[in-house]
Amino acid sequence: MEKKKVLLAVSGGIAAYKAATVASKLYQSGYEVKVILTNSAQKFITPLTFQTLTRQEVYTDTFEEKEPAIVSHIDIADWADLVLIAPATANVIGKLANGIADDMLSTTLLATKADVIIAPAMNVNMFNHPAVQKNMKTLSSFGWRFIEPNEGLLACGWIGKGRLAEPEELIEAVHDYFNEITNQKTLPLSGKKILVTAGPTREELDPVRYFTNHSSGKMGYALASVAKQLGADVTLVTGPTAIDSPEGIKVEKVTSAKEMFDQTLFHYAEQDVVIKCAAVADYTPVTVHENKFKKKNDTWTVELRKTDDILQTLGEKKEHQILVGFAAETENLENYATDKLRRKNLDMVVGNDVSKEGSGFGSDTNEIVIIKKDGSISKLPILTKEKAAKEILQQVLEMMEQ
Ligand code: PMT
Repeated sequence: MEKKKVLLAVSGGIAAYKAATVASKLYQSGYEVKVILTNSAQKFITPLTFQTLTRQEVYTDTFEEKEPAIVSHIDIADWADLVLIAPATANVIGKLANGIADDMLSTTLLATKADVIIAPAMNVNMFNHPAVQKNMKTLSSFGWRFIEPNEGLLACGWIGKGRLAEPEELIEAVHDYFNEITNQKTLPLSGKKILVTAGPTREELDPVRYFTNHSSGKMGYALASVAKQLGADVTLVTGPTAIDSPEGIKVEKVTSAKEMFDQTLFHYAEQDVVIKCAAVADYTPVTVHENKFKKKNDTWTVELRKTDDILQTLGEKKEHQILVGFAAETENLENYATDKLRRKNLDMVVGNDVSKEGSGFGSDTNEIVIIKKDGSISKLPILTKEKAAKEILQQVLEMMEQ
């Protein structure tokens, strides 16, 4: 069998010494291992250690191009099946979250299309700092995964969370990753790209006020998670919600209907399926005040103009994609939903009566009706949003098979 290729990226913390064991055990487990060391990592451990353990050249400098025909950081970015950053310092996490590319590690990570696992290690207060937490959230939203540091006595003398996970845990995470990839290849949606939109949009009126709606994002996030479990490569375009980004899913965070339009259209061409579950504002203020609008008269009339209908635009540009829309109604559910299916050139529409108890906005459950373009209608009982998502994706799968 062809060897799996792991790129081990080591940054400069005291735990860098553990990376030598990781490199050695990965090599002994049958992986092909290449190593990048940052300048700071080399203060703790030498390239020769890794070269000896992996039988491979070690990369330390973007500008040290040994072979004229090859640009090294692009070459190893393309070579890797998986990148493991261990230990990942606060500095490296910050650089990667902000697209900074100023050394071999960061330029390679910016160029790679491989999946990335990050094992942070640092002082407990640095780990808990809002800046580091925010940067880790950003990296999670790229679909990158984390192996949480362990708690205990840290090299700096503090006790708390910050110790690099043990080499055995890191090796296990790499094995698990490749097992998951192998299993995913046999899942029903493996190899398929699905884009889901979720949550509300916010339409700004002035720096302190906006129009929005009651969407919590629960239905859309459930669809994204179930699609991922079924093996799909999922992109979630989400308006503001209180839900954490699901693991292993690319998340594009947007605020306004315009931003959701741009992000969805940006990813559209490469998708096999698009499910538009977001509650997009139909209207947006004509004037957005630069400063807070001061209270004056008894009434305030705000002029609104229609937003671009994202789903309608996707329907007009549809090529190979299966397009699924939602219809949030308070009356004539089936008629209005069928009208949206036809008008927006959809393959399927999911109707929900948002005036019903336990259905629609905010609840953990939903009562849906699925209408397909062949005219078939499935009315489902009230279900958890996860179960409703499974039903929707089951119908999508059937459409794909047809
Ligand atoms: O997020 P939750 O709290 O879990 O609630 C779930 C939900 C009620 C938001 C969800 O089940 C739902 O019904 N989503 C669609 C809400 C909606 O905007 O429905 P609509 O009937 O107004 O729009 C019809 C379709 O057009 C939707 O797929 C919508 O995403 C799309 N649309 C609407 C306006 C616009 N400018 N662009 C669009 O793409």
